Amino acid sequence: MSNPSLLILPGDGIGPEVMVEVRKVIDWYGAKRGLAFDVSEDLVGGAAYDAHGTPLTDETMEKAQSVDAVLLGAVGGPKYDVLDFSVKPERGLLRLRKEMDLYANLRPAQCFDALADFSSLKKDVVAGLDIMIIRELTSGIYFGEPRGIIQEGNERVGINTQRYTESEIDRVARSAFELARKRGNKVCSMEKANVMESGVLWREVVQKVHDEDYPDVELSHMYADAGAMQLCRWPKQFDVIVTDNLFGDLLSDAAAMLTGSLGMLPSASLGAPMANGRPKALYEPVHGSAPDIAGQGKANPIACILSFAMALRYSFDHGDEATRLEQAVEKVLADGLRTADLLGEEGVQPVTTAEMGDAIVAALDTSA
Ligand code: IPM
Ligand code: MG
Repeated sequence: MSNPSLLILPGDGIGPEVMVEVRKVIDWYGAKRGLAFDVSEDLVGGAAYDAHGTPLTDETMEKAQSVDAVLLGAVGGPKYDVLDFSVKPERGLLRLRKEMDLYANLRPAQCFDALADFSSLKKDVVAGLDIMIIRELTSGIYFGEPRGIIQEGNERVGINTQRYTESEIDRVARSAFELARKRGNKVCSMEKANVMESGVLWREVVQKVHDEDYPDVELSHMYADAGAMQLCRWPKQFDVIVTDNLFGDLLSDAAAMLTGSLGMLPSASLGAPMANGRPKALYEPVHGSAPDIAGQGKANPIACILSFAMALRYSFDHGDEATRLEQAVEKVLADGLRTADLLGEEGVQPVTTAEMGDAIVAALDTSA
């Protein structure tokens, strides 16, 4: 059998430098665990625009459709602010999500013990936190029509449309219930059914999927604004949160910060199963391209490395190896290693992006 294939799209800003560290981890699995991947690399975002005048070429799109999993770094940067909306770096990422139909975006927020002090919240509020936000990723206001900026009389109007079909809500709700069964068996669905019809439908469909096929899972509903408040007040009340594209974007950034740093959090974007049974999948850190620190060795590679761990778990059926990698990360943090985003303790010198990557590989070595 041929090796599983992996397409790496480092992208912009800190994307390329964190991906160098992920490559070390991937190489380690090939050399030490007999888990070899056919890795290819390509451009996305501003890097693709600079080379080809588009944030994602058709050839790269085709490649992404044909591999077993895509691993992406980050896209965007101030240099591209002046570009027309249609060729902005972000459009490359959104095209990948849409055309691969990656409707379920898994964003775990887990607080590592060693980092509980870094949260802006009190330690007892976040210590041991382990929640999973499932964000609908291919519909809603991100893609709804009509959209645009139109002229109306003597002024312009900006338009975006929130739109959800029953089947779009149904499938992401199923992802949430399935995942909850493997975790704490609890789902909280968030919308704004008090002001949005799309929210009314969302609540109704999630409840129906629950009652018909997942009555064993505990389900609650919450308005998204109250959900944001509860996330900051007592996040440990949640297990799985399922929500739409825009609310999920906001709530996942907030949840990420509970854990101490945005530089820690991975994500998986999953679609329907392919012919080989694996889900269509793209893995990426939740953080952005952080252009202000790019190229200085300050970036934290952990979010991207943990995204590869998610690939091991969700695409390649190696949950055991994913756990091994997560434990290696836990070990270097417990040993006191900190990249610049994780400073705060007295007398701690930051390690560079590369030093953090090397330390994680060394921790893997001691695990084997
Ligand atoms: C995210 C990002 C993206 C989004 C941007 C880069 C298009 O914020 O993945 O959360 O808004 O979805
Ligand atoms: Mg975001």
